Amino acid sequence: TIVVLDYGSQYSQLIARRVRECHVYSKVIPFATTAAQLRDEAPAGIILSGGPASVYEDGAPQLDPAILALGIPVLGICYGMQLMVQTLGGKVVPGSAREYGRADMTVVEPGRLFAGVKADLRVWMSHGDKVSALPDGSRVLARTHNTEYAAAQIGDKDIYGIQFHPEVVHSECGSQIIANFCLKICGCSGAWTMASFIARSIEDIRSRVGDDEVILGLSGGVDSSVAAALLHRAIGKQLTCIFVDNGLLRKNEATSVQKLFGENFQMNLRTVDAAERFLSQLVDIEEPEQKRKIIGRVFVDVFADAARDMRRARFLAQGTTYPDVIESASINGNPSAMIKSHHNVGGLPPDLKFLLLEPLAQLFKDEVREVGRQLGLPQSVVDRQPFPGPGLGVRHLGPVTKKTLDILREADAVMVEEIKAAGLYYHKLWQAFAIFIPMRTVGVMGDLRTYEYIIALRAVESTDGMTADWADLPHDLLQRISSRIINEVRGVNRVVYDVTSKPPGTIEWE
Ligand code: XMP
Repeated sequence: TIVVLDYGSQYSQLIARRVRECHVYSKVIPFATTAAQLRDEAPAGIILSGGPASVYEDGAPQLDPAILALGIPVLGICYGMQLMVQTLGGKVVPGSAREYGRADMTVVEPGRLFAGVKADLRVWMSHGDKVSALPDGSRVLARTHNTEYAAAQIGDKDIYGIQFHPEVVHSECGSQIIANFCLKICGCSGAWTMASFIARSIEDIRSRVGDDEVILGLSGGVDSSVAAALLHRAIGKQLTCIFVDNGLLRKNEATSVQKLFGENFQMNLRTVDAAERFLSQLVDIEEPEQKRKIIGRVFVDVFADAARDMRRARFLAQGTTYPDVIESASINGNPSAMIKSHHNVGGLPPDLKFLLLEPLAQLFKDEVREVGRQLGLPQSVVDRQPFPGPGLGVRHLGPVTKKTLDILREADAVMVEEIKAAGLYYHKLWQAFAIFIPMRTVGVMGDLRTYEYIIALRAVESTDGMTADWADLPHDLLQRISSRIINEVRGVNRVVYDVTSKPPGTIEWE
């Protein structure tokens, strides 16, 4: 294992991920971890992340000097480098020229860290402070125009500092440098795979849970499905999944969850049909945020009731992944902050106290998918597009009713079916779905005047949902979707396609 001590960089997890890409297990742990804890953990290497602070400020996160004396190789990145330099007697000062973005770096001494890396490379910098003097016995390995000590071996041990960010894709050879640290300097074998992650997680889960019982809120989405499959593999019937049907699900969603998890996997699955409870609270509610709040609140109530029936459970498992961790820690009013409030156990009433199990919290989405594949989840689940917690509630403009939700469900199913049938597209799209517009327009069908609802189609490409572009779907595909919806879904006589990117639009219409 290589541990990443997190000094608050937005890239800490990305560093861990790059290490895992070298087939070495890596996880992020708090910077305040002590040398004694690290000695017990015995990682093969330690990486100190970057961070927003200045090392010379009061209250700046510190480094336990004993960590550098453990004899374990250390790589400090950006703030991590500055911290090591300061700890070992060098000097860090505010930079006269701040360096953000691209920089051209020259490797002056490759050593093991830059083995196989070309001499001139473009790297990505993001720092205000800089190292102005290295501790005694250090060697400069690379420099840029602005930064004399862009990389250095600090002292005579395997302690390295680099001022740039090898973990971001804009740094040339960044992965090679990380691989050199893990394989050449720390001596890791590079034999770790997702299968070893699964094996290790199963052991961890078993030893934490013992004979106790665990409940998990299963939504049918990728994360909770993979968490369910992993926990089931670890503890079998000690796991109970609670699936809440809120009446705002897509067509056949409840049945397919029942089939897959209840029948195929033979899990303890409790489906709570709470459609009535949700819909009765949503009568006449038009404002999107109010809908979200109500749906979130009722979800917590319904889930809590179901959980109260399971008094023996001590653990609550969640499919939290790394992006959720940052989203809920959120940063500048990023809308994703509230996205997950819905699934958050923070919202459970005080009489329900669970220990949290989050076996996927260190992973990125594509890694979670890989775990799911290896656990035997079908492609249709593993590659599923994201679906918002409030479900069709925010894809049905205006107040929801059972009848109009059914119209939306049918139209949405047609759209997804056609897109899947056209090959390629479904996986290229971040999301593709239908929206119900509660207004009627005039049409003509079979010589008769019609006056019916509108369905909008939305299909976007995106890598993270933060920005998105509308997808230029082939016209004949749009044509098929449109005619099938109008022919097959009673109550709709017009289909429109949304050609708005995000920004300025959002992906969902509400
Ligand atoms: P927007 O509409 O803000 O959506 O561009 C960005 C991504 O977030 C999803 N989304 C939600 N997910 N609860 C969720 O769990 C919500 O209230 C919510 N609102 C939007 C949306 O589907 C898209 O992937």
